[in-house]
Amino acid sequence: MRKPFVAGNWKMNTDSRSSVELAKGVVDGSVKLAGRDVDVAVCPPFVYLQAVARAVSSSSVAVGAQDVYYGVKGAFTGEISASMLKDTGCTYALCGHSERRHVIGETDELINKKVAAAIGGGLLPILCVGELQSEREAGQTEEVVTRHIKKGLAGLSAEKASAVTVAYEPVWAIGTGLTATPEQAQEAHEFIRGLLAEIYDGRLADEIRILYGGSVKADNAADLMGRADIDGVLVGGASLKVDDFVAIIEAAA
Ligand code: PGA
Repeated sequence: MRKPFVAGNWKMNTDSRSSVELAKGVVDGSVKLAGRDVDVAVCPPFVYLQAVARAVSSSSVAVGAQDVYYGVKGAFTGEISASMLKDTGCTYALCGHSERRHVIGETDELINKKVAAAIGGGLLPILCVGELQSEREAGQTEEVVTRHIKKGLAGLSAEKASAVTVAYEPVWAIGTGLTATPEQAQEAHEFIRGLLAEIYDGRLADEIRILYGGSVKADNAADLMGRADIDGVLVGGASLKVDDFVAIIEAAA
């Protein structure tokens, strides 16, 4: 049985005070769910990781980074390694978020190195995949997702790949208010699980959690997570409001 997983991606939002307040709000909101089977993580900007990690330290809420660099240490100005993130209290690291692919220009090859480095450094990577609107309209969704998954996981043994969570985030649904319908999302998730079975085996495909992301809100989360292959959600905008994020966690639990 895959345990539901709700992760909040704060993107380039919050400040030193509001990041801690938000984290504490998530902790307080999750307390009443104690014992319910759901994993929760928040992914603040790098500079607030340490403060947020402290704020959630006595709770079951985990902390994730929004990115990670593949180098171990040395002359990589501006970058942050997996071991630094681990040292700061991170459990997870997003890899290949669509804003990094399409705004910053990250390639599948770079993302693959980041996934491998995250695992090597003891982090659990959340590999984000998903098609652009134009790609969906051109009937290329499966082709794009296949490329993101195959290249993103290239060279990883089944044992290493078992550390990965996949997040299917159609780019046209991110921050737009346009959510994929539960049917569209389930179709993509089922396809991804089949792909994982093809690359690895059925057992691993059955174990790996696949999250949906893209305009997830309190009022659509339950319907999405009710589908067989949707194991949780990666939430952007709605993770910045305590009540909305806690309602999504409740929907998962
Ligand atoms: P959104 O972002 O929920 O604001 O659409 C999701 C994401 O980018 O992870």
